Amino acid sequence: MAKVTIDGKSIEVPDGTTILNAARLIGGEIVPPAMCYYTSLKTSGGYCRTCIVKVTKGSEKDPRPMPKPVASCRTTVMDGMEVQNITSPDLMEARAGVVEFLLINHPLDCPICDQAGECHLQDLAYEHGLAKTRYEFSRRTFEKIDIGSKIKLHMTRCILCYRCVKVADQITDKRVHGVMNRGDVSEISTYIQNVVDNDFSGNMIDVCPVGALTDRTFRFKSRVWFANPVDAHRDCPKCAGKVTLWLKGEEVYRVTGRKDKYGEVKDWICNDCRFEKKATSDWKIDGPANLDRHSVISQNHYTLEEPAHKPLLNDVNVVQNLVGGKEMYNS
Ligand code: SF4
Ligand code: FES
Repeated sequence: MAKVTIDGKSIEVPDGTTILNAARLIGGEIVPPAMCYYTSLKTSGGYCRTCIVKVTKGSEKDPRPMPKPVASCRTTVMDGMEVQNITSPDLMEARAGVVEFLLINHPLDCPICDQAGECHLQDLAYEHGLAKTRYEFSRRTFEKIDIGSKIKLHMTRCILCYRCVKVADQITDKRVHGVMNRGDVSEISTYIQNVVDNDFSGNMIDVCPVGALTDRTFRFKSRVWFANPVDAHRDCPKCAGKVTLWLKGEEVYRVTGRKDKYGEVKDWICNDCRFEKKATSDWKIDGPANLDRHSVISQNHYTLEEPAHKPLLNDVNVVQNLVGGKEMYNS
């Protein structure tokens, strides 16, 4: 076992636990954000750097601090380690830099994006983002393409977190998409017009932290915060059949996997459950879904909680509209 202290809170965890998972065991506001790590996807993490933390004491045996911020999803704890996340202004500034990089090419199209309200980048931009970009060059843009009959890829929004690639690799039996090219021209794509049609391919939509992969059966139907999420199940021969139904009255607007408070799905669902079972009579309702995130949906009403650190975003319209429960942004 190793004892680690994060933002002044100590916990003992088994050897080999990452700093991120130790922080999740402590819980609360000290948990670093994670855009690419995903508990149930092997080798995920290490791409986006949003989870960086400052290690102020390496271990009891070697108390030297680590010279640079480290990715908490890839760094394991040592006995006696001391870590700073939200208590370090330097680290907050470094994370704001990471967010600024992620937003360089990301379009500010939240008002028309289906992921708005459950987008981790939107949350990060709200907590750490600048109101204006300092980037002066032309942004990368791509045409939207259909990868299969049910999934729309809007590559312009992609942050290259690789989660969808790992879903395709690890839970479908036929991967036909991946990251093509390298560096500034990297993009998620299918290989020469192949379509993604595997039974479990819809899970790529659930793991995408932004609006790059969206459900073609749900696109533009409703803002997510106007739907009521309920947990439901059915006897499915292909998957666990445990889902969240997004209802408006009796109508099933969309079906997703059940996500935990970090937005991660534990039980993958098949495409039949996700795309074909859109009647409430297909399901047995278990009760209201418990979405324990700080997004507008989890609240199901619009209150502005005091953030752990001062947001740099100072667009008064954004704040006023959040409080007022109207549109997210004045467009
Ligand atoms: S499409 Fe989504 S899940 Fe796939 S790499 Fe891009 S951001 Fe990540
Ligand atoms: S969550 Fe750790 S690098 Fe992306």
